[in-house]
Amino acid sequence: TEGTGGYRTIRVERRDRVAWIHLDRPEALNALNVQLMREVVAAATELDGDDGIGAIVVTGSERAFAAGADIKEMATKSTAEMRADGHFGGWAAFAAVRKPVIAAVSGYALGGGCELALMCDIILAADSATFGLPELSLGVIPGIGGTQRLVRALGYPKAAEIILTGRRVGAEEAERIGLISRVVPADRLLDEAQEMAASIAAKSLPALVAAKAAMDAALEMPLAEGIALETEHFTALFDTEDQQEGMAAFSEKREPRFRHR
Ligand code: CAA
Repeated sequence: TEGTGGYRTIRVERRDRVAWIHLDRPEALNALNVQLMREVVAAATELDGDDGIGAIVVTGSERAFAAGADIKEMATKSTAEMRADGHFGGWAAFAAVRKPVIAAVSGYALGGGCELALMCDIILAADSATFGLPELSLGVIPGIGGTQRLVRALGYPKAAEIILTGRRVGAEEAERIGLISRVVPADRLLDEAQEMAASIAAKSLPALVAAKAAMDAALEMPLAEGIALETEHFTALFDTEDQQEGMAAFSEKREPRFRHR
């Protein structure tokens, strides 16, 4: 375990091939202000380019993953100001991370916090977690992808009910409707996230990146184009050392030793 310094609103920690980004603004329940966005994006981008890292976990505190975008920071802004600074635009770089990202959610994941979790590939939640998009109660709408990603995740009817009412969704319901991957007992959350991330990070890095790129395409492309892209990624992996090692290990009845290249 080794800390990476220089950040004020997050802490970064490495555990073998897994990197942890801890959101750390306890005074505001980890509300996502511009500084936190920039720090998360900077850390995630650096880790994405680090061959020693195979998976990233984003987490908050026991009380809050993140209680939304920072309402106080945007309260007095005009449309022209929001447009000029592209207020949430930086998050696109987080969604573009090539490696698998797991959200380990405890407590509140509201508004932008819920949207940040939805940008991750896998959401693990403590049984204490609550999700929701309460933006309409503030006179606005979700602004970090919530209207798009929730509709894709849940289908229109369920997403519409959650967005238009702004109601909170508990962890059990969130699992049942497919908003999250899995709910675990609160005291197991961090261990389960580390175990899952380690099992992912042990796999071939080129294959992980290809899998994520192909799955991302499923959200963007018509089926035939998506399948063509999958074929391209699948075929390209046959020039990797890890493909040779993975298939040789199968024949030799042993565990593969991936070199992640
Ligand atoms: N922005 C700024 N500050 C926030 C915040 C937010 N989203 N959420 C909580 N805080 C601050 C509170 O203002 C409070 O600070 P002070 O002590 O200085 O007053 C501190 O965090 C602790 O919060 P509470 O005292 O409110 O804690 P609570 O336990 O009583 O309530 C809560 C917890 C229900 C999560 C409540 O804080 C809350 O409703 N937060 C706002 C939730 C929300 O509306 N999120 C959507 C934001 S808009 C958005 O996200 C837009 C988008 O699409 C990107």
